[in-house]
Amino acid sequence: MPQPLSSLFVTCQNEEQTVRFAEYLGELLQPGDIIALNGTLGAGKTRFVRAIAHFFGIDETAVSSPTYLIVQSYPAHICLHHFDLYRIRDEEELYGSGCDEFLDGEGVCLIEWAGRFPGFLPKDHLEIAFEVTGENARQLVLSAFGSKHERLVSGLKKQLSEADFQD
Ligand SMILES: Nc1ncnc2c1ncn2[C@@H]1O[C@H](COP(=O)(O)OP(=O)(O)OP(=O)(O)O)[C@@H](O)[C@H]1O
Ligand SMILES: [Mg+2]
Repeated sequence: MPQPLSSLFVTCQNEEQTVRFAEYLGELLQPGDIIALNGTLGAGKTRFVRAIAHFFGIDETAVSSPTYLIVQSYPAHICLHHFDLYRIRDEEELYGSGCDEFLDGEGVCLIEWAGRFPGFLPKDHLEIAFEVTGENARQLVLSAFGSKHERLVSGLKKQLSEADFQD
């Protein structure tokens, strides 16, 4: 397992803080960014994607866990590609869908359950692991793999030092 170049621990005491943190990340996102979202059922991955979609001016009520589709795309100033790999049986189904094409496109890829297929991700990506620490509390562990995505962790550290999140 490759080691991350940098990490960041973020405590979200409630849903509103998760949304606010997603907006901070939304502000830093650039075309081609790949964000892996891991963590148990109900941990907040889709909620996080909805918050970024809203920040991008997309109707967030349109964003749900894509049940039939592996990936759903939402046009905006940067296109959002929302993947959910939970129901994918194997690599054949994953690659057969052609969804890997988005990974080297001009959009931002937000990939729920990316951890199920580690080989699917390009080396350079950001992982966010969601942990349920209370009814409404979540711990987010961000790990930057590769220099392109390390800028997100350093940018977030700068923003958070002025905000009300605890390490
Ligand atoms: N701090 C928080 N951050 C995010 N979601 C929270 C928080 N507190 C409570 N919630 C609730 O937790 C639930 C998270 O559900 P969500 O669908 O985002 O999970 P998920 O990780 O996408 O699960 P799945 O693996 O099933 O797709 C939502 O109902 C949300 O309202
Ligand atoms: Mg989900």
